[in-house]
Amino acid sequence: MRKFIQRALGKLPKLDREQIRSLLLDLANENELLEVVLNSMTDGVLVTDLEHRVVFTNQCLRGMLPMARVEPEDQIVWSLVADQEIADFLHASLPSGEPVEEEEFTLDGSGAARTLSFSIVPVSKDEEPRGNLILVSDITDRRKRDARLRRAESLASLTTLAAGVAHEIKNPLGSIGIHIQLIQRALKKNQCLDEAAAGKYLDVIMEEIERLNGIVVDFLFAVRPMDTTMKKGNINKVIRELMDFIKYEAQESDIQIKTTLKKDLPKVVLDEKYMKQALINVIKNGMAAIGRDGTLTVATREDQGFVHVDVSDTGIGMSEEQMAKIFEPYYTTKEFGSGLGLTVVYKVLKEHGGEVSVQSKENQGTTFTLSVPIPDSEKKLLDWKGERK
Ligand SMILES: Nc1ncnc2c1ncn2[C@@H]1O[C@H](COP(=O)(O)OP(=O)(O)OP(=O)(O)O)[C@@H](O)[C@H]1O
Ligand SMILES: [Mg+2]
Repeated sequence: MRKFIQRALGKLPKLDREQIRSLLLDLANENELLEVVLNSMTDGVLVTDLEHRVVFTNQCLRGMLPMARVEPEDQIVWSLVADQEIADFLHASLPSGEPVEEEEFTLDGSGAARTLSFSIVPVSKDEEPRGNLILVSDITDRRKRDARLRRAESLASLTTLAAGVAHEIKNPLGSIGIHIQLIQRALKKNQCLDEAAAGKYLDVIMEEIERLNGIVVDFLFAVRPMDTTMKKGNINKVIRELMDFIKYEAQESDIQIKTTLKKDLPKVVLDEKYMKQALINVIKNGMAAIGRDGTLTVATREDQGFVHVDVSDTGIGMSEEQMAKIFEPYYTTKEFGSGLGLTVVYKVLKEHGGEVSVQSKENQGTTFTLSVPIPDSEKKLLDWKGERK
């Protein structure tokens, strides 16, 4: 159709009124079809010219993006967007003329928060830049679906957790049973029991009930679904913030802290609060394994599509048998340990689509590695920058 119209335009001087009318009609029809197609899309489309003025927006975009003005056409795109963070992003990215892959923003506004993903594609014709195409997708539901899938996976690990609880509650329940039997026997013998005789049995029963309560509370803490808020972020930043807070405790135990954070580490999708919790649990275990006087190293690196955080200590280390048990809920060798620290670490990493692994040598030390996948958008960005092959 386009070719036909172009040919017809070439012959324009020779066309009569009727032919020109029909040509214009064809053009209008084609234009309308394009608009209908673009307006039927479930992604937002915004086209800008070389001066970053809005040339076109589709219906979906107008519904998705909070706009500062009703009429978007001819406005500079960043002055049009009512969300400051998105406006700043567009202002920073568009003039560079470089493509952007799936940059994510959360709109809190009224009602439920939505996550929007922005991609910018420079548009050119015959190698002449013409402007930019901005594609916006609402990925809120995709994110929720991912979280549900990960939760289903971590439900599988609940079986191990439930087995752990069953094992834990067996002893107190057994002990309660025995002490009730003892009371029954004493009652049979004496018809009644004085406070001193009954008291010693009842005290044990109360203690065991408290123990059961503790087990249930810890269990609920470990299995509670995490209300994660996943955002793209930099793990190095999370670690730096954490170290400021950990260093005083380390100083008191003469533990030297070393951090070697890789520069230009790709961003990952994470919940900072939970990731901090996981790192704290591993760091505290490392410091406990050292006791006094030693070195704790926190390092980041990138490898095989993952960002890895290695937490190494020069502490007591572990045997192979011990290593096989440490992620089991309630496994602890400490007098006042809950044995749930690493269960939480495991759960947090699963929630991030990642892994946790451990290497250790008795009397030498231990390294825990927390690995978080690099999202596809970051990988593409790195490929495009030519930093990775
Ligand atoms: N860095 C480490 N070096 C040596 N042993 C470790 C290390 N980290 C964990 N462990 C072993 O794994 C066990 C389980 O760790 P986890 O963090 O789950 O519980 P915990 O530290 O015992 O209790 P809590 O975390 O509640 O203080 C520890 O008791 C310890 O025996
Ligand atoms: Mg611990």
